[in-house]
Amino acid sequence: MSTIDYNEKIPNNVGLAEDKALQRALEHWQPNYLSWWQEMGPDGSHGFDVYLRTAVSVEAGGWAHFDYVKMPDYRWGIFLNNPEPGRQVNFGSHKGEPAWQEVPGEHRANLRRIIVTQGDTEPASVEQQRHLGLTCPSQYDLRNLFQVNVEEGRHLWAMVYLLHKHFGRDGREEAEALLERRSGDADNPRILGAFNERTPDWLSFFMFTYFTDRDGKYQLCALAESGFDPLARTTRFMLTEEAHHMFVGESGVARVLQRTCQVMNELKTDDPDRLRAAGVIDLPTIQRYLNFHFSVTIDLFGADESSNAATFYNSGLKGRFEETKRDDDHRLHGRTYTVLGVADGRLVEREVPMLNALNEVLRDDYIRDSIAGIGRWNRVLEKAGVPFRLQAPHKAFNRRIGSLAGIRVSPDGRVVSQAEWAQHEREWLPSPEDRAFVASLMGRVAEPGRFANWIAPPANGINKQPVDFQYVRFN
Ligand SMILES: [Fe+2]
Ligand SMILES: [Fe+2]
Repeated sequence: MSTIDYNEKIPNNVGLAEDKALQRALEHWQPNYLSWWQEMGPDGSHGFDVYLRTAVSVEAGGWAHFDYVKMPDYRWGIFLNNPEPGRQVNFGSHKGEPAWQEVPGEHRANLRRIIVTQGDTEPASVEQQRHLGLTCPSQYDLRNLFQVNVEEGRHLWAMVYLLHKHFGRDGREEAEALLERRSGDADNPRILGAFNERTPDWLSFFMFTYFTDRDGKYQLCALAESGFDPLARTTRFMLTEEAHHMFVGESGVARVLQRTCQVMNELKTDDPDRLRAAGVIDLPTIQRYLNFHFSVTIDLFGADESSNAATFYNSGLKGRFEETKRDDDHRLHGRTYTVLGVADGRLVEREVPMLNALNEVLRDDYIRDSIAGIGRWNRVLEKAGVPFRLQAPHKAFNRRIGSLAGIRVSPDGRVVSQAEWAQHEREWLPSPEDRAFVASLMGRVAEPGRFANWIAPPANGINKQPVDFQYVRFN
């Protein structure tokens, strides 16, 4: 391994070629990463040449280099955004100190936990999506799936770099453990709930990349404010890739809606049975998928009141979304925030110390952003002259974490009895029959320019290529 040209094999801007300790750590980890990719990466894809973008530098345009690549040979790189001269810790009790270039000893355990929790989501989503290639609705979509997968792999590298570079032996052990947990495994699952759910079909995949990759965006934005400068710079670069993942989800759902509306107009019907018989996904089913992914994803922000969230903020490790654009003291002592709770079987608002409610603050920012995109989906329906409108369910709907766990709330925000829940659950969440129907549509369409019947083609190809471009060579 000593003859490796590091800059060629592992594109980076962290001086890897000169950093012997980091090289040793990566030399041990990289073969295990590749074994993990062989075992858990996209099923059956290892020989394909895929038209992918590879990040080769952080300069404008340098992160979007396109070429055909076999995914096991993808050059997973390590990139930090360029340093900001004179950057400071911008919030919490260390506000005004120079940003840390090394891990502050007193915050070491918390910082490691934050990095590991973020890092764990990256391989988890690759595992969740590993069978989807077998049922792709088009080559264009297949390429997008693989692009998301290799970039989640690179995000794992980004977090492992921090663990190797800054956390010594326990960092190396955590990096190994990131390759050992498995999404949905009974004995050694991924850390967060939504990352142990299945992503069994392409409607789920589009909902996942819309909702759950957007959670990724908000978590990364909060970490991009970190007083630990290497974490801030790494996550800033990761955000450039996350934008594409959310595009895949948003445009994917929009294309499903477009196709359904087209058939609704052709057949002049909104009857789910007739639409299903015509091979498209009826709008109420899409709404139920939305309800599921929205509710499972907002649980990822954690409990509405959390002393950990307060500690992470106070110690300058994890900020708020757009922390430095906010117009307050960035310490938040004595400030309050409204959270939802339950009293006497009703939802009630409570004022709690804002520092303890920072998970809720981030969740609310996320919800606003999610709802804006649902509005863009509704414009597809509007344009087609279809009166149905998609809606985000109430924040208390189907929650498993925080003070809203353990009660039953309808999508429109009424606390309901267990009996009423059981009576309506099939209208509110995807039923086994819904999932079986969607699964029945998932046949593989892989000729350039052809699309499955249930989804419209995209308006444009990738990287200004035509829609019928050969995005994947199966060899
Ligand atoms: Fe990611
Ligand atoms: Fe992502």
